[in-house]
Amino acid sequence: MSTLFVCITCRREADPPAEVRPGARLYAALKEQATDLEVVPVECLSNCTRSCTAAVAAPGKWTYVVGHLDPEQNVEDMLQFARLHGASADGLTLWRDRPVHVRKNTIARVPPMPTPKEPA
Ligand code: FES
Repeated sequence: MSTLFVCITCRREADPPAEVRPGARLYAALKEQATDLEVVPVECLSNCTRSCTAAVAAPGKWTYVVGHLDPEQNVEDMLQFARLHGASADGLTLWRDRPVHVRKNTIARVPPMPTPKEPA
């Protein structure tokens, strides 16, 4: 199972300061709908100028950071991508299978940590 890390402090330039942060709204929507995925709030994924931001990760798999997420438009995109990621062996999914928003707004992919070697 893959984990969705969602930045709850993301705010886009045009958002009014008093409004609930879009990142927090994105997190709430994903948490409510992702009954089969773990959704974890985090404070800043260092992608602030391209917010909202979420990352999909799992042990032994590539991690993907996705930006420009709209809490009203892209919840299903991230759920679909996290499920694809979870079903893959190594986190690598076919480009054509990814939701269009994910294809166009992947900020980074990070290789999995090497598995510690067994002591000889
Ligand atoms: S505040 Fe969300 S990535 Fe920095």
